[in-house]
Amino acid sequence: MIAPENNIFKAATSAPSNIAIVKYWGKKGVQEPVNPSISFTLSKSITKTSISYSHNDSGLSIDFLFEGRSKEAFIPKLKTLSERLVKYLPFLESGDLKIESSNTFPHSSGIASSASSMASIARALYNIQMQITPNFKEASKPAMISEMARLGSGSACRSTMPGWVLWGETPLVSNSHNHYGISINESVHSVFNDLQDTILVIRKGAKSVSSTTGHQLMDNHPYRDGRIKQANKNIELLLGALKDGDFKTFSKVSEEEALSLHGLMMSSSPAYTLMAPESLRAIKRIIKFREHHHIPLTFTLDAGPNIHLIYPKSQSKIVHPFIEEHLRVLCDNEEVIFDEISLQ
Ligand code: PMV
Repeated sequence: MIAPENNIFKAATSAPSNIAIVKYWGKKGVQEPVNPSISFTLSKSITKTSISYSHNDSGLSIDFLFEGRSKEAFIPKLKTLSERLVKYLPFLESGDLKIESSNTFPHSSGIASSASSMASIARALYNIQMQITPNFKEASKPAMISEMARLGSGSACRSTMPGWVLWGETPLVSNSHNHYGISINESVHSVFNDLQDTILVIRKGAKSVSSTTGHQLMDNHPYRDGRIKQANKNIELLLGALKDGDFKTFSKVSEEEALSLHGLMMSSSPAYTLMAPESLRAIKRIIKFREHHHIPLTFTLDAGPNIHLIYPKSQSKIVHPFIEEHLRVLCDNEEVIFDEISLQ
C-alpha cells in the first residue's frame, strides 16, 4: 500500500444520468435484469462525488453528505453496496469512508439521480482501491465499474460509459451481459448523435411508489412473460433503427416502451399510477404537433409523471417554440430542463 502523507486516500469523480429507451423493469438474482435495456447518457445531468478514506481495523463506517447535508436515509443503501463490493474492492472491509455527492440537476425532477449517483460512487471507490493497490485489475476497468454501479442501482450500470449503452443478455449482441453495460456507439447512425432530451417536469417531488417496489411487483405480474417478450422484440427493433438511422421505428419503440411501463404499473397487484393528468395532456399535444409538422420528435417516461421529449438538435427551432407555448404551462412551476446526449 502506498499511503498518502496524512493517511487519507481521496478521489473525486462524476457520472451522468441516463434515459432508457427500452426499459429495465423487473429483476432476478442480485440486481440482474429480467430483460435487456438500452439507454443514452445525458450531458448536463451529472452527479459529482468526492470520497475520502482512512484505514483502521474497527470495521467499515460510512458517512454520507448530499449537497453539504448529512443524509442518513441513504446510509443503509451504501452499507448494502459496500457489502456487495468488498469482493471487488477489499479496502471496503474496514476503515472510515466519507462520501459527499451533489447533483447538477434539481432533485426529484424526473432525471434518474440513483443512476448518476451510484455510477459516480462506484467510480470513486474504484479510484481509491487503485491508489491503495496501483496495479489493481485495470484491464477490466469499464466492465468492472459498470458491474459495481449495477450493484448499487440497476440502471446505474448504463451511466458509467458515454452515449448508447446496452445492458442485459440478448442473442443479438455477442458480448452483451446481465452483469454490466456495454457501449454500442459504434453501431449507431449519426442521425442519433445529437439527440436532445428536454424534460418536462410535470410533478416535482418524491414518487408515491419507488422503483424498487415497482421491480418487485413484476415478480408475480400477470403480464410478466409478455413483457419480457415485448422488451426483447423492442431491443431488436431499436438496434436496427439505431443502426439504420430510422427515427420512425426509434420513436415507435420509445413510446411503446414508455406507455407499457406505465401500463405494467396500472396492472400490478396492488395497482398504482405514477402519471399525472398533465402527463397525458402533454403526450396528446406532442403527438398532435408531430402529426401536423411531420418532424422527428418522440417522448419517453421513466417511472414517474415527467416527460422526456426527444428530438435531433436540428429540430430545436421548431420544437422550442412549441415547448414554450404549449408544454411549459403543464409543468410544475413551469419547469423545463434542456439536456442532450453525451457521446464522450
Ligand atoms: O435502476 P432502477 O432500480 O432505479 O430502475 C430503473 C427503472 C427505469 O428507470 C423505469 C427504467 C430504466 O431502464 O432505467
